[in-house]
Amino acid sequence: MKKIIIAIDGYSSCGKSTMAKDLAKEINYIYVDTGAMYRAVTLYALRKSLFIDNQPNISALNGEIKNINISFSLNPQTGAPVTLLNGEDVENEIRGMEVSSYVSAIATIDFVRSFLVEQQQQMGKEKGLVMDGRDIGTVVFPKAELKIFVTASAKVRAQRRYDELKNKGVAADFNEILNNVQERDYIDSHREVAPLRKADDAIELDNTNLTLHEQKEWLLERYKDVIEKA
Ligand code: DC
Repeated sequence: MKKIIIAIDGYSSCGKSTMAKDLAKEINYIYVDTGAMYRAVTLYALRKSLFIDNQPNISALNGEIKNINISFSLNPQTGAPVTLLNGEDVENEIRGMEVSSYVSAIATIDFVRSFLVEQQQQMGKEKGLVMDGRDIGTVVFPKAELKIFVTASAKVRAQRRYDELKNKGVAADFNEILNNVQERDYIDSHREVAPLRKADDAIELDNTNLTLHEQKEWLLERYKDVIEKA
C-alpha cells in the first residue's frame, strides 16, 4: 500500500500527540513528536545555563547547537516513544514545568528551527510517517498528503496537561498550567519564524467535546479517505 506523510498541527496540549501516536501504531507508521525536539533543546540550554534574565543567550546557544543530538527510542515495557538527548532518556524531564516555561522562547530562534526542521525532513524521506507539531503542514512537509489542524478550548487543554502530569506523578498546579498554555498559544501564533497557523489545505478538528476514542476513529477515517484516492 502507498505510504504517505501525515502532518498534525495545533495548539499546545490539545491531544495532538495522543491521536498521532495512536494512528501511527494502528497503521504501522513512524511517529515523531517535534515538540519533544524543541523541549530537548530547551533542557540542554537550561542545563548549560544558556539563559540570561530568563531569555536564551542566542550566541552561546548558536555555538552549542552542533553538540545537541536528539533521537527517539521505544520504552521496552510500554512501547511508548522515549526522547533521548545525547543518548540520555529525558522523556519525563522535558514534560515538566521548567522546560514548558522556557520552550516557546527557544522555539522562536531561527537557527534552532532550521536545525530541527532539517532533521524532521530527513525522517520523512521514506514516508510512512505521522509527525505532530506547529509547522509540520506549513513548513516541514508543505506537500504532506494529509494535514490536520487541531484545536480545543484553553481550559480543556490545561486540564488534560494537568491530568497527564498527575498520572506521571509530577507535581502540578492547574492555574499555573492554564497560564502557561495561554502564554504559549500567544507566543506560538505571534512569532516571526514559522508561526502556528492552519495550512490552507489542512482539515480542522475541534476536539473540545470529543472522547479519545471518537477522535481516534475520526482520524482513521481521514487517513482511509486519502489512502483510497492515493
Ligand atoms: O507540543 P509541545 O507543547 O510539546 O511543544 C513545545 C513547544 O515547542 C511549544 O511551545 C511550541 C514549540 N513547537 C514548535 O514551535 N514547533 C513545532 N513543530 C513543535 C513544537
